[in-house]
Amino acid sequence: ILDNSSYPSLSDVAAAGGEITPAELVNSNLFGKYELGKLLGCGAFGKVYHARDINTGQNVAIKVVSKQRILKGGLTAHVKREISIMRRLHHPHIVRLYEILATKTKIYFVLEFAKGGELFAKLSKGRFSEDLSRRYFQQLISAVGYCHSRGVYHRDLKPENLLLDENWDLKVTDFGLSAVTDQIRPDGLLHTLCGTPAYVAPEILAKKGYDGAKVDVWSCGIILFVFNAGYLPFNDTNLMTMYRKIYKGEFRCPKWTSPQLKRLLTRLLDTNPVTRITIEEIKDDPWFQKGYQEVKPDHEFEFKSWSGSDFDPDSFPG
Ligand code: ADE
Repeated sequence: ILDNSSYPSLSDVAAAGGEITPAELVNSNLFGKYELGKLLGCGAFGKVYHARDINTGQNVAIKVVSKQRILKGGLTAHVKREISIMRRLHHPHIVRLYEILATKTKIYFVLEFAKGGELFAKLSKGRFSEDLSRRYFQQLISAVGYCHSRGVYHRDLKPENLLLDENWDLKVTDFGLSAVTDQIRPDGLLHTLCGTPAYVAPEILAKKGYDGAKVDVWSCGIILFVFNAGYLPFNDTNLMTMYRKIYKGEFRCPKWTSPQLKRLLTRLLDTNPVTRITIEEIKDDPWFQKGYQEVKPDHEFEFKSWSGSDFDPDSFPG
């Protein structure tokens, strides 16, 4: 299987059922066919590096996850879910999963590289104009709506999970905490407590069962508020106090907020998930609609670039 004339790629090695030798990883920035670059960030489950395909020059991001951490945390099913979810998502505003590589101890997710980095970094320098807030919110809603229509809920939407590409367009990443409908309990509600406190919907804090679509809409509301204001609507150094504020749902928009945007924010940050605005209703909102064009999801195709097209997620870890 391996062609001696060229450096064997990790996927070649994996397809051949082999393992990567330490010599290929130690004292070398070559990782199979990828040249490893700088550290881009640390996610909930591991580090993300910039890398380049030596043969094509294509930029990618490689997320490294330790198998041991997954096993110890009892997260095998969780990571398998992340893989199956990302394989199913093909949308211009969602980070693509190109291939998965594995060694004895680690799993490597080869992801689309978002050249602009974290949107959060831009946000921390201030706030966005109303037009830019709208543009990024439209792209976010387009991506989230696409996921929801496929039964996928992110459940951890926050500015840190929003990246920018080379055109300064939005890319949503990190589906590490998301769930799919087939994991939903018979009562139709999700029950795990997860997510970042500041972006968490009140019904999650109340430890009631919750609807994945509704909590994503709430998080999108917090994100839109932060785009426009440059700070969080519900915040406190004391976590309990912050929770209480979220629970009450009282917030004040900065003075530059237009009445139309204020109205939409009020509908997004409705503490009652039943009356909270839905994705479909958001798309009909006059503030949202300005200049909005529904993006066509990427043409869907079967992955052929796996560590063998017969890659079986059940075969790992171990
Ligand atoms: N940081 C985390 N994931 C990334 C990605 N896919 N592209 C660029 N930076 C990132």
